[in-house]
Amino acid sequence: MMIRTETSADYDGVYQVNVKAFDDREDEARLVESIRNSEGFIPELSIVAEKDNEIVGHILLSKAVVQDGENTNDVIVLAPIAVMPNVQKQGIGKALILEGLDRCRTLGYDLVFLIGHPEYYPKFGFQPARQHGFELKQFEVSDNVFMVCELKEGALQKVKGELIYPKSFF
Ligand SMILES: CC(C)(COP(=O)(O)OP(=O)(O)OC[C@H]1O[C@@H](n2cnc3c(N)ncnc32)[C@H](O)[C@@H]1OP(=O)(O)O)[C@@H](O)C(=O)NCCC(=O)NCCS
Repeated sequence: MMIRTETSADYDGVYQVNVKAFDDREDEARLVESIRNSEGFIPELSIVAEKDNEIVGHILLSKAVVQDGENTNDVIVLAPIAVMPNVQKQGIGKALILEGLDRCRTLGYDLVFLIGHPEYYPKFGFQPARQHGFELKQFEVSDNVFMVCELKEGALQKVKGELIYPKSFF
């Protein structure tokens, strides 16, 4: 299995992995296309897992902001992540997340947010975000699924406010 940056030759495979992972729904596959065509897209944060020349997993991390009055902080949001159903629970999702977070850190980002399974993400350092002073108004979600991961020690003490997902998410 190889973890690498997505290229344009992977777009079909990435579409398929998102459709298959999300019960044949196309919403997440279309979300990937929408983000890819937006200002918030960072090419090296669209990462694929390839096995036997097939795309079996994909993660996308992209730009968002945290707004606190006049202050705006650049952050990253993780969405979506998808692994082919026949190869789930083999560590592919984990490898994609660890590589994604590592690349975000290298690019100088301090915080990564997501909305996701509360049982899955804490092992990668994600914690409920509202208890750290973050708000989310664009999506109505419970406290345990809105999560943040601190990539640089102390970042959670410095930044507070409302997470704003860009237009490409809607
Ligand atoms: C969520 C998803 C990306 C995880 O990928 P994966 O390759 O199956 O996950 P991994 O094998 O890397 O799992 C890593 C760990 O999480 C556990 N795990 C996997 N899926 C889990 C889940 N849904 N809930 C809780 N734990 C889970 C694994 O048992 C493993 O534990 P370990 O490290 O202690 O051994 C994949 O299941 C998927 O594509 N699901 C459908 C789409 C989806 O729900 N995406 C996320 C939306 S928030």
